Amino acid sequence: MSNIELVMLSSRLSRMAPSRELAICGVTAFVFIVCSLLAVGIPTDAEREKVPNEGSCRVKCYMEPDCVSINVGPLDSRGEITCELNDATWENGHESDMKELVNYTYLGIENHCHSHSCIGSSTCQVGFTSKGFRCKCRPGGVGDFCEGAATSCSEIKSLDNSARDGDYVIDPDGEGGLQMFRVSCDMTDKNGVGVTVISHNSENRTLVDGYEKSGSYKRDIKYMRANLTQLTELTKVSLHCEQSIKYECYNSRLHNGNTTVGWWMSRDDTKMTYWDGASGINQCACAVNGSCARSDRRCNCDKDDSEWRFDSGLLTNKIHLPVKQLRFGDTGVARNATSNETGYHTLGKFRCYGIAQL
Ligand SMILES: *[C@@H]1O[C@H](CO)[C@@H](O)[C@H](O)[C@H]1NC(C)=O
Ligand SMILES: *[C@@H]1O[C@H](CO)[C@@H](O)[C@H](O)[C@H]1NC(C)=O
Ligand SMILES: *[C@@H]1O[C@H](CO)[C@@H](O)[C@H](O)[C@H]1NC(C)=O
Ligand SMILES: *[C@@H]1O[C@H](CO)[C@@H](O)[C@H](O)[C@H]1NC(C)=O
Ligand SMILES: *[C@@H]1O[C@H](CO)[C@@H](O)[C@H](O)[C@H]1NC(C)=O
Ligand SMILES: *[C@@H]1O[C@H](CO)[C@@H](O)[C@H](O)[C@H]1NC(C)=O
Ligand SMILES: *[C@@H]1O[C@H](CO)[C@@H](O)[C@H](O)[C@H]1NC(C)=O
Repeated sequence: MSNIELVMLSSRLSRMAPSRELAICGVTAFVFIVCSLLAVGIPTDAEREKVPNEGSCRVKCYMEPDCVSINVGPLDSRGEITCELNDATWENGHESDMKELVNYTYLGIENHCHSHSCIGSSTCQVGFTSKGFRCKCRPGGVGDFCEGAATSCSEIKSLDNSARDGDYVIDPDGEGGLQMFRVSCDMTDKNGVGVTVISHNSENRTLVDGYEKSGSYKRDIKYMRANLTQLTELTKVSLHCEQSIKYECYNSRLHNGNTTVGWWMSRDDTKMTYWDGASGINQCACAVNGSCARSDRRCNCDKDDSEWRFDSGLLTNKIHLPVKQLRFGDTGVARNATSNETGYHTLGKFRCYGIAQL
């Protein structure tokens, strides 16, 4: 007697020839489905895997992350059977993908998805895992139920190399503790390692005018969707963090002799007077290679010579970032057309990338 069974057609794990769709037969947990002969779809021989027995086919399915059911074909003259792996199950709303094949057996598993729920936009797959189901998480989701979030965009990228630019939820300090938060991921910058990008309220070029006393101009930086405690955790799980900073000046200095006129505050509220890299030395980028407008000054702006000048750099010290506040001064006097004082600051988005070995 020939056994005609419904097998999974939708398989993208092993390709099969198209066949007409059929009405459903009865189905039970851990099913062998046997239906009456209606039509026969013969699978192509290409992509056909031969294994010694059904057990080997199950093992193959177990090893393949997306496999949730199998079609087992008839014994051939060499004593081998055909093994086809499927990425969908009968019970999982794929009835229309079933077709009948002579002497084939479809083997799914009890639908644990009915008793377990995957969180959010994840999908539940019935499968041959020890749990009997698998939650297929949206990018960035982690955990048996996709209840958690990856720690950074770099981790998201490392878990799924095809993850694209966009908004994702991250949880740098892991489950419990601080709340997860939404960030923007740049998956192409920095050789595609996955860059976590945090926006803030002071990215636009902003005028500083009318503040004479050192540090009397104060601009608090408010980061989007995360506070400094959460961003501190982001710096810990990241290999690198950076933020660009720029001050354009017209007769507005960053230093007046040994007095610091302008500075920035680190995330833990400490006065910072370096404007490039992570040196911590009270100077601008130009002083690093001795290219400042006046060779005996530490910043271009310190030349104070009625010319528009600027100092800019990339801050990279993870211990100090992100910038919490900007402070400037020496913009109070509009004495006359040639010696008035003005500045503009521009602070870049906060970016972290790479996975720190904790
Ligand atoms: C199905 O199996 C039966 C007996 O096991 C055999 O006689 C028959 O030829 C097979 N049919 C096909 C299409 O392989
Ligand atoms: C930051 O937000 C978390 C909640 O996500 C909160 O527990 C923590 O107290 C906040 N920290 C500050 C400094 O506001
Ligand atoms: C920055 O400038 C743009 C364009 O001028 C404006 O639309 C935006 O609201 C500004 N952002 C802030 C935070 O002021
Ligand atoms: C600035 O500080 C240096 C070193 O601390 C000192 O040698 C120098 O005299 C100071 N200059 C002024 C103008 O105070
Ligand atoms: C000094 O470094 C700046 C960047 O920080 C660069 O633009 C400039 O060309 C360098 N000058 C010299 C003389 O190396
Ligand atoms: C304008 O600046 C010049 C020097 O550049 C100075 O001699 C003059 O007194 C200033 N005028 C006023 C009104 O301060
Ligand atoms: C201030 O200096 C600028 C040059 O940047 C000049 O265009 C402007 O007229 C000056 N303003 C006053 C009030 O003197």
